[in-house]
Amino acid sequence: MALRNILKEGDESLLKKSRPITQFNDRLFELLDDMKETLMASNGVGLAAPQVGVLRRVVVVLDVDTDEIIELINPEILSVEGEQDGPEGCLSLPNIWGLVKRPDHVIVKAQDRNGDEFTVEGYDLLARAFCHECDHLDGILFREHVYQFLTQEELDEYYAQQEEEYDEEEFDEEFSEDGDE
Ligand code: NI
Repeated sequence: MALRNILKEGDESLLKKSRPITQFNDRLFELLDDMKETLMASNGVGLAAPQVGVLRRVVVVLDVDTDEIIELINPEILSVEGEQDGPEGCLSLPNIWGLVKRPDHVIVKAQDRNGDEFTVEGYDLLARAFCHECDHLDGILFREHVYQFLTQEELDEYYAQQEEEYDEEEFDEEFSEDGDE
């Protein structure tokens, strides 16, 4: 396994459409293993093959709930539902953050490293990551979906506010539970 260099915005490869994988061989296994190692080393939640200069339809996505990295080969989004709104970033666009609306629930069909087909479901962050990474395979960068860019400070503020709201909700829940007794 080896770390791969992550291409940054400005590199033409990031704007190209990737081609499907047709051969499930050692070269693919090596690519997947390297992408997983590169993703972990950069603390990201997802990485697409074109981001490491390989124009093939391969992505890896971290499921933060299980800490498992999901390998998707030739992924296809089958259905989307609901909407979520929140900040997004990309390993190829360092220090750029923006608010993006994405579906809240996504079902993806893909192949595993042996070529076997499967479907996987994602909610919240996982749904967001599936959409973001599949976009990369069509040469689409997340900035195209941003409706408001955020500075690092604004991003920190956003998360602080989310935490505050969460704490308040927890407090309200406890309070109403006590009230019911
Ligand atoms: Ni990205």
